[in-house]
Amino acid sequence: GTSLKSLAEAKGIYFGTALTQSNLSNSTLTAVASSQFDMVTPGNEMKWDTTEPSNGTYNFAPGDAIVSYAKANGMRVRGHNLVWHSQLPSWVSSLPTSQVQAAMEAHITTEATHYKGQVYSWDVVNEPFNDDGTLRQDVFYTAMGSGYIADALRTAHAADPNAKLYLNDYNIEGENAKSDAMYNLVASLKSQGVPIDGVGLESHFILGQVPSTMKANMQRFTALGVNVAVTELDDRIQLPATAANLTQQATDYATVINDCLGVSGCVGVSQWGVGDADSWIPGAFSGYGAATMYDSNYQPKPAYTASVTAL
Ligand code: XIL
Repeated sequence: GTSLKSLAEAKGIYFGTALTQSNLSNSTLTAVASSQFDMVTPGNEMKWDTTEPSNGTYNFAPGDAIVSYAKANGMRVRGHNLVWHSQLPSWVSSLPTSQVQAAMEAHITTEATHYKGQVYSWDVVNEPFNDDGTLRQDVFYTAMGSGYIADALRTAHAADPNAKLYLNDYNIEGENAKSDAMYNLVASLKSQGVPIDGVGLESHFILGQVPSTMKANMQRFTALGVNVAVTELDDRIQLPATAANLTQQATDYATVINDCLGVSGCVGVSQWGVGDADSWIPGAFSGYGAATMYDSNYQPKPAYTASVTAL
């Protein structure tokens, strides 16, 4: 039957979803996931607090469960993520500054080596920028300066030379100070020969606010010689959602998909979660929800129909 993945594949892109380990025991959810999506991003299972909860002690079982589900269902995996200021265990932020680089490199090398050949891509550095385009003053920046990003990319490339290496961030979907900063960073990395294959546009949108410059913004990135991907799409609505809201959401989803299809270096679109029942939005943005293509019973919403039409 009709599916997001078959339509996407016919257009040369993928259609992905995020899954957590607990999602795998929900058979209603997995029935939709396996029939509609051909790419999986682990929601939390490959983040530092899970994979290296204490210095040198690694736990890959949760991430392995996602990889094995993906494999069993013919889906690829976007590794997410190697370096991020959030969901970072406190032992990292408590290290003496002089030990942070070695800890970061060991973490990247061990995790990327564990998943070598199992992941299509890595979000090597997640959310490096502030909204004003300056780099976050996190533990990595404090210890190494802006060079931590190139160092992370080189370290990941050495561990898994075939994985596509991404920088991923939010509020870089349209043209603004933050996406300008990401653009300038990627241009600089490319000019220095640093391994970078793509930029992930998270795309956690608010209803009716898909930036009109999204396609042009993706195009300027691909002109630098990198791919782009919509990595964490959702479109949150102030609850309770009305029928008019769901119609606007359908328009928003179609806009994002058409923008990606209109850019030759846009490799795919991933939604952050399968349906409204497993979406992170109500937990993260008080009063908001209904942000995905499937309702709380995993029935398709107008955004699903509009996505099928756009594809
Ligand atoms: C979110 C997860 O969905 C939640 O379960 C967790 O509590 C917080 O992180 N940007 C990212 C993702 O890159 O990793 C985040 O995922 C959502 C925002």
